[in-house]
Amino acid sequence: MPYATEENLTALALKQWEACHSPRLRQIMQSLVKHMHGFVREVDLKQDEWLAAVDWLARTGQMSSEKRQEFILFSDVLGVSMLVDAINHRFPEGATPSTVIGPFHIDDSPEMPMGANVAEGLAGETCFLVGTIRDLDGKPIEGAKLDIWQADADGLYESQLGSEEPVLRAVFYSGKDGKYAIRTIAPPGYSIPMDGTVGDLLRGTDISHFRPAHIHFYVSAPGYEPLITHLFKKGAKYIDSDVVFGVKEKLIVEFTKHAAGPAPTGEVISEPFVVVNYDFVLSRAASAKNGKASLSEVVATSRGAL
Ligand code: BEZ
Ligand code: FE
Repeated sequence: MPYATEENLTALALKQWEACHSPRLRQIMQSLVKHMHGFVREVDLKQDEWLAAVDWLARTGQMSSEKRQEFILFSDVLGVSMLVDAINHRFPEGATPSTVIGPFHIDDSPEMPMGANVAEGLAGETCFLVGTIRDLDGKPIEGAKLDIWQADADGLYESQLGSEEPVLRAVFYSGKDGKYAIRTIAPPGYSIPMDGTVGDLLRGTDISHFRPAHIHFYVSAPGYEPLITHLFKKGAKYIDSDVVFGVKEKLIVEFTKHAAGPAPTGEVISEPFVVVNYDFVLSRAASAKNGKASLSEVVATSRGAL
């Protein structure tokens, strides 16, 4: 092997990474070397900048845990999470598009009957979520699992509240007609966690650290591609500046105001409320490339992938 010079280093590193056992690992590592070397050369990286980056990455790892994944947040604000999501969920035209899962989903939410109130006892504007879970031909899907989670009226999720009890998350199953009806509260927009290394980075910029008001959904049914998505409130603050690039046009929905009176669940509400009407359209399994049943399955698969 020739000895290193500034000019030949990229070629040397590419040659070294020829020695990967799997062709996929070789492809990924050689591409990484190529782009990292290109990046370092392009910005003419200084020694202290390299050291600061290493220190930042180390602190990012140190503050990550089962409960908090600062590296995923970094990936989110770079737009990488949404790009990976887009590449892996190329659903057919007419299917509901996916968006990032985010860090606040909790497995095994309590199952509730259709029409239940997931915000029992919580302050906030009463909101009803109604619609049908159906396929691309308009056929209702029976037995679809609808897992929902959202922030409270202060923009905080259960894990940020430190609650022992489930907060604003639940699982519902559709009946024969594929319909769903859920009572909740309308969430506000909120800031992504700013107390970590990603926050430090964003404070050195004029980037807005907010997400527009949204509710998370994980919709799955046997024989269909699972769908992880959000519904965003039309006209919400930050709708055009979501810090994690999660907004897609087809996921922006009207939160329609209603006067006090009968609600879609049949109950009578004494205050004004809002209704969100949206049909989730799932595509048949295998019609989208690389669809996986669950986040844990995706993680397990990717660990063994290379
Ligand atoms: C969320 O919507 O919950 C979220 C997504 C990405 C980063 C932070 C929060
Ligand atoms: Fe969220």
